[in-house]
Amino acid sequence: MNYRHAFHAGNFADVVKHVALALSFDRLNVKDTPYRYIDTHAGIGLYDLAGDEAERSPEWQDGVGRVWSAERGAPEAVRAALAPWLNVIRRLNSGVLQHYPGSPVLAAEIMRKGDTLRLCELHPESADLLREAMGRDKRVKIEERDGFEALPAYLPPPERRGLVLIDPPFEAGTSERKRDFDWMLKAAVKAVKRWPVGTYVFWRPIKDVDAVRDFDGELADGLIENGGLAAEKLLVADLWVRKIGPGPLSGAGVVIVNPPFGVAEHLQAVMPWLCELMSQGDGAGWRVERVAEAG
Ligand SMILES: C[S@@+](CC[C@H](N)C(=O)[O-])C[C@H]1O[C@@H](n2cnc3c(N)ncnc32)[C@H](O)[C@@H]1O
Repeated sequence: MNYRHAFHAGNFADVVKHVALALSFDRLNVKDTPYRYIDTHAGIGLYDLAGDEAERSPEWQDGVGRVWSAERGAPEAVRAALAPWLNVIRRLNSGVLQHYPGSPVLAAEIMRKGDTLRLCELHPESADLLREAMGRDKRVKIEERDGFEALPAYLPPPERRGLVLIDPPFEAGTSERKRDFDWMLKAAVKAVKRWPVGTYVFWRPIKDVDAVRDFDGELADGLIENGGLAAEKLLVADLWVRKIGPGPLSGAGVVIVNPPFGVAEHLQAVMPWLCELMSQGDGAGWRVERVAEAG
């Protein structure tokens, strides 16, 4: 287990994931009834962009760094889509961008007093840092264990409303990546069967277009054909910063099951802007599609 998210925090892939997450929490807040957030691979919660890892691998500069500098000039619809995520980043930083919220801190900042968070982080040192980042927040319970294994017992949550993020490391190496795809697929089918009305966000890298196409196809089959989910309840949002190929990560995105109302439209509005802004060469692109439309 070598993966440390601190080397990648705030990169273009985090931007897409966290914008989609923040929009989802924002929409879940529309109803007064409490909800639960379950994060199977939580990371350390808060990242220091001036820290050693970020300095050695300043991927954030081409992700959140570019958004932070350009956001004021963005069209209104783009600013509206970015607002739930950027408002948190603004609260954590005064002027200079240094503190980047991972998914647990982002969630805790947007969620309300009566909502609850369940976070799994397997790596002991990361779990310690996560506990430190979450402080004494009574809404939060952290478990130092395998998030895939823990997930079934969390479902359905007592609140009967909420969001599950499945964001494994997809460590370098074809077999490790394949393993995370396989585990994610199994976990997804099992989880949605137990709790079909929850919102789920599955993050995946796009290193190999065929592997992602196969994964998305199998996920759709598992959830739609075997799990009874309606095809229009599956939304894909992907962005690639250059032509997809070998070398550093060029593309990534999320599959969202049961996206809250309005999330798809906000993503449609923001993705072309993010794509142009974060592009790193020829062949950059994006897509936001309902699986029903993708066919
Ligand atoms: C991609 S990072 C998580 C990033 C975080 N969700 C965010 O958006 O800020 C993946 C994390 O999963 C942890 N991890 C790896 N295998 C795990 C497992 N089986 N169960 C729980 N956590 C695991 C790693 O230590 C790493 O911190």
